Amino acid sequence: MSNHNAANEAAAQIQPAKGKLGVMIPGMGAVATTLIAGVEAVRKGFAKPIGSLAEMGTIRLGKRTEGNSPLIKDFVPLADLNDLVFTGWDIFGGNLYDAAKTAQVLDRDQLDQIKPFLEGIEPMPAVFDKHYVKRLDGKKVKTGRSKCDLANQIRNDIAEFKTRTDRQVMIWCGSTEIFLEPKEVHSTLEKFEKGLVNDDPDIAPSMIYAWACLKEGIPFINGAPNLTVDIPALQDLSKQAGVPTAGKDFKTGQTFMKTVLAPAFKTRMLGLSGWYSTNILGNRDGEVLDDPDNFKTKEETKLGVLDYILQPKLHPDLYKDIYHKVRINYYPPRGDNKEGWDNIDIFGWLGYPMQIKVDFLCRDSILAAPLALDLILFMDLANRTPALKKLGMQEWLSFYFKAPTVPEGLYPEHDLFIQSMKLKNTLRHIMGEGLITHLGLDYYGD
Ligand SMILES: NC(=O)c1ccc[n+]([C@@H]2O[C@H](COP(=O)([O-])OP(=O)(O)OC[C@H]3O[C@@H](n4cnc5c(N)ncnc54)[C@H](O)[C@@H]3O)[C@@H](O)[C@H]2O)c1
Repeated sequence: MSNHNAANEAAAQIQPAKGKLGVMIPGMGAVATTLIAGVEAVRKGFAKPIGSLAEMGTIRLGKRTEGNSPLIKDFVPLADLNDLVFTGWDIFGGNLYDAAKTAQVLDRDQLDQIKPFLEGIEPMPAVFDKHYVKRLDGKKVKTGRSKCDLANQIRNDIAEFKTRTDRQVMIWCGSTEIFLEPKEVHSTLEKFEKGLVNDDPDIAPSMIYAWACLKEGIPFINGAPNLTVDIPALQDLSKQAGVPTAGKDFKTGQTFMKTVLAPAFKTRMLGLSGWYSTNILGNRDGEVLDDPDNFKTKEETKLGVLDYILQPKLHPDLYKDIYHKVRINYYPPRGDNKEGWDNIDIFGWLGYPMQIKVDFLCRDSILAAPLALDLILFMDLANRTPALKKLGMQEWLSFYFKAPTVPEGLYPEHDLFIQSMKLKNTLRHIMGEGLITHLGLDYYGD
């Protein structure tokens, strides 16, 4: 079969992106409102979707000499932004215009341009329990006989949304929950479903949404560091039902920089003795993370990356004794404009020490919104692509996460450029195009 035929045949397996794509968001705070307002601003032609690989990125096909680098959105069949319809849940009343004003991420003038659209979306009452997010008090919260009853109420909300949209994706943009470890109740679907009936305390609200979502056959994305779908019960459900899951914790500011710099040191065989990271952050996320139990969940995903990238067991002379510390300090005056400092102690030839300082004055939700958009578009694509759908877990989207979930026995790839290659090669693969290995010998003749 010619390359052209192979490509046509592969592409024909993917269902087209016809009709409305419903986006369901538990947690409509800073990230969610910045995403939704941003999509509407782009649709109206007021702004560009900067930071979105799916909307702005290109993908090279064939040899460098062929000059064939289409836009990703022209290469794979992604949903059109005009077809996105949003809904979600939150514990705060009011509409999304008010929620976006509270989040203080986007300028008032920009919000006013799209005010009627934002006013038209009102979060549904949430499944919430203060035990899991200590610093928040729920105002619009569902009540039910048991966690199972609450989960079924979410299923009803989803069923109603299904009548208004053609396909759906759920993305958790809710708060970071307290640190939970996998327990017996998470070990099988049967035990998990019994746990729902028995109100097991190890079943957090995010798990209730995720279970309802997967049962309804809808892909689930975890933007927070919560345990949520990283449990055998829900992974089995995802795989058996062929419903994509992806997570976890958007890789936005400091960890994004870390997974660029650490691979650079390792590639050059430069040693590392310490990496001190601290942040000041004044938004609601910062307030929630000010509680030690909630911070522990975030700390785990932030700390993991260096070990996997640097592989101290393979390179003990360079990375055996790294002192790695991560701090997040709640500092209200900064709002969503986080400042992340890194002090990095490295050493080079003959062990001579050097230092690098990074001061990233970033905007948390401005960095997160395009990642959320890409994940929505790519997870919808995965759900229409038989070769990806059957996998359940979508590791090829690890590019977007601080703590990518991987099948048991595999370590996660954290290096941003390996992740980017993995993502693009997956797109080439599902479209029947040749993979790009960067070997390049074929440019030199025989
Ligand atoms: N750059 C970033 O902003 C970034 C990066 C990585 C991860 N995250 C994670 O994304 C999540 C959202 O961040 P944010 O800045 O938008 O926070 P936020 O506090 O502005 O929004 C979170 C919202 O979730 C709601 N919520 C909490 N529990 C809920 C529940 N059970 N059901 C429904 N709603 C619930 C809260 O009321 C709040 O409105 C957090 O977990 C955060 O750690 C954010």
